[in-house]
Amino acid sequence: MSMAPAITTEPALTLPVLDRFGRPLRSLRVSVTDRCNLRCAYCMPEPQYAWLKREEILHFEEIAELVEIFSQLGVDNVRLTGGEPLLRHGLARLIRMLAANERLRELSLTTNGLLLAGQAQSLRDAGLTRVTVSLDTLRPDRFRSLAHRDGLPEVLAGIAAARRAGFAHLKLNTVIMRGFNEDELGALLELGRDLGAEVRFIEYMDVGGATRWSMEQVFSRDEMLASLERRYGAIERLAPEEVSAPATRFRLRDGTTFGIISSTTHPFCRACDRARLTPDGLWLLCLYARDGVNLKATLRSGAGRDQIAATIAQAWSARRDRGAEERQALHARGVLFPVEDLRRNPHLEMHTRGG
Ligand code: GTP
Ligand code: 5AD
Ligand code: SF4
Repeated sequence: MSMAPAITTEPALTLPVLDRFGRPLRSLRVSVTDRCNLRCAYCMPEPQYAWLKREEILHFEEIAELVEIFSQLGVDNVRLTGGEPLLRHGLARLIRMLAANERLRELSLTTNGLLLAGQAQSLRDAGLTRVTVSLDTLRPDRFRSLAHRDGLPEVLAGIAAARRAGFAHLKLNTVIMRGFNEDELGALLELGRDLGAEVRFIEYMDVGGATRWSMEQVFSRDEMLASLERRYGAIERLAPEEVSAPATRFRLRDGTTFGIISSTTHPFCRACDRARLTPDGLWLLCLYARDGVNLKATLRSGAGRDQIAATIAQAWSARRDRGAEERQALHARGVLFPVEDLRRNPHLEMHTRGG
């Protein structure tokens, strides 16, 4: 006599989980700390910050458990961010834990590069697949005025160490702000070419924490292309690496490729498959989200994998976020959050939700 099939209360999950606009959940950015050793003007321009409490921060085991559940729901691309992720003590141990998850196709890191020279090899050995380094200027005086400390030599040494450690597809992220560094487009592109790293120019975004943002300071993708075309001649637009990739890629006549992330003037919400986990386990479904799902509370209340997976799948199925498009549609566009709101709620900050 054959056994009757077990009765399940939850319907079986069908992959991938799609949101209300048919967007799959594929990419998770995990911010491992809200702390940073720089104070970039586009991210942390205030003199004082409210930090997350130490006991609220997820342990590596908790992050790995959540990533495991996300990967069962279709996430195959995980990026570690911060704050500055290399400030998180023992990060290579977390990478080793995550790298053991065979469902992950990419396990990457976005860093400001200051501490990279000393850690590149151990990160690579632990199983990190790709590294992106933020580099906004090649002029030490500008570096100091942007980031409120010196550090350009350390960042360049970090990029070189990442090459030596064998990271392929290195990327450099450069936020371009009018009146600050738009005259360095060519120099940064050439440095990237010489180092074998692809530069991505990023439009200054009105994200949480950017309390000095104004539309006048946005140097747009069209302006970047016009400036580069004057210097290098015709520029060819390339097919995207992936439909959901935030950068549009281009090629100069000499073959140098670069990207532009133009989320301020050309949002990519329509293809957005990414979500964010804050260091204390708040799951945000959009870069511009005001609130999220408290997965740490669910996890620490003793919920099992199936229950957490159901919570995630249910929230993603209801997702309608398209924050950057909504911002673009505004007539008058100013800072996203008043500074008092940021002080009351650090989860609104870009350095908490992952740059
Ligand atoms: P790969 O495509 O895998 O290289 O990763 P990525 O480009 O997503 O990673 P990276 O951390 O380099 O992101 C580049 C920049 O794109 C960020 O620093 C942000 O400025 C911007 N960005 C990242 N995520 C979002 C998002 O969800 N929405 C918007 N509007 N911009 C984002
Ligand atoms: N505009 C654009 N990019 C930003 N980042 C942080 N704040 C902003 C902003 N206001 C991104 C940068 C930086 C990464 C860590 O976060 O790309 O390199
Ligand atoms: Fe700069 Fe990144 Fe630190 Fe923000 S988190 S201050 S962007 S280095």
